[in-house]
Amino acid sequence: MPIQKNAAPARLVSLVLPTYNEAANLEKMLSRLTELFAQYQFPYEIIVVDDNSPDETWKIAQRLADERFPNLKVVHRRTERGLATAVIRGWSVASGEILVVMDADGQHPVEVLGELLGQIEAGADIVVASRHTDGGGVSDWSVVRRFLSRGAQFLAMALVPSVTRQVSDPMSGFFALRKSVIEGKTLDPVGYKILLEVLGKGNYSKIGEVGYVFLEREGGESKVTSKQYWEYLQHLFRLSVQVGDLERFLKFGVVGLSGVVVNLAVLWWLKEQISLPLWQAATLAIEAAILNNFIFNDAWTFQSVSRREPGLAARFARLVRFNLICLVGAAINLGCFLLLTQVFKVHYLAAQLIAIGVSILWNYTLNAVLNWRVNSQNSDSQSQSMLVKITTLFRST
Ligand code: GDD
Ligand code: MN
Repeated sequence: MPIQKNAAPARLVSLVLPTYNEAANLEKMLSRLTELFAQYQFPYEIIVVDDNSPDETWKIAQRLADERFPNLKVVHRRTERGLATAVIRGWSVASGEILVVMDADGQHPVEVLGELLGQIEAGADIVVASRHTDGGGVSDWSVVRRFLSRGAQFLAMALVPSVTRQVSDPMSGFFALRKSVIEGKTLDPVGYKILLEVLGKGNYSKIGEVGYVFLEREGGESKVTSKQYWEYLQHLFRLSVQVGDLERFLKFGVVGLSGVVVNLAVLWWLKEQISLPLWQAATLAIEAAILNNFIFNDAWTFQSVSRREPGLAARFARLVRFNLICLVGAAINLGCFLLLTQVFKVHYLAAQLIAIGVSILWNYTLNAVLNWRVNSQNSDSQSQSMLVKITTLFRST
């Protein structure tokens, strides 16, 4: 929903453009933004944060600020490097009540900004431009690039489910928020993914999304190298500890181990003492382990969530979902095992170890996201249907 022209009382918008070697794109970007803000008659400032780019983007930015764009501020960081920290630096010198970030290379379509601000005006705390919602997508990415992007997203869902479940595109670098969301919070991201940090630590209740197509770069080149993947992992682990997701994941693992003991004990008892046929004994042993795991996960691992939804009916619903997810997990385990041993000729013990790892990730992530529905610490936001978000992960775009 675009902003009404002359909407009053309008609040100042501070838009941060992080740059590193964007000399080829900056002026075009600034012209487009200026035009858009003029069209909406919105008070604004643009803050370029440049990390001492070798192509002297900072110098060009400063000249443009002096000669053509009076609403432009330039922050020149001489020693620090990194997209996420650059954004925080920009916001820290912002005077606006509404904060925005977008790429300076033309990959984020400027028109979408109107919709982001429109939703903020309508009461949202954070509005994210998303590739994975209606109207969203990527231009012509190869299958490999899409797969890597989805893999990175699944990893985030496993390590910080309480954060990623808030939006369909938690990796987006294009979003708007009210300043109050991050006021008084300590953000300390590593690498690129500033939105994860905002969602994990911010104070918000209403989130909006706007679909957009991630365009191809106009000039220059992407700054993503293997270093950024490494930083991404570091960031996920750190955030996972900070928001309490890692603790939950470890508890889930401990409960899983207790399930193994229950499985073996029940199997032995049914076979040796009750003399059931082996397949019956094995099936019942699996179900016993699932029941055991459910009881402890509900009472311990996901305690904070279960407490919010007490009552027999709710508990039973969680048990049924847990059962279903774990049964699919068992099928995934078997599928992985067969694929690795039969097709890739991996040693059967190594194959089983990998298969167990994959199915644990599956069981944990789906249970955290779909069953107990963990939320990030400060937010009481009602996330949109999570099933929608899980399915977006497997959509073709
Ligand atoms: N100040 C500063 N310092 N800016 C940086 C740095 C840095 O170390 N690294 C990158 N930037 C700037 C770039 O100049 C560009 O304006 C923006 O950050 C995005 O960098 P790209 O290298 O073009 O990233 P990308 O195209 O691979 O990924 C973008 O799109 C993703 C998908 O929405 C980023 O915006 C991601 O954050 C986003 O998730
Ligand atoms: Mn880019």
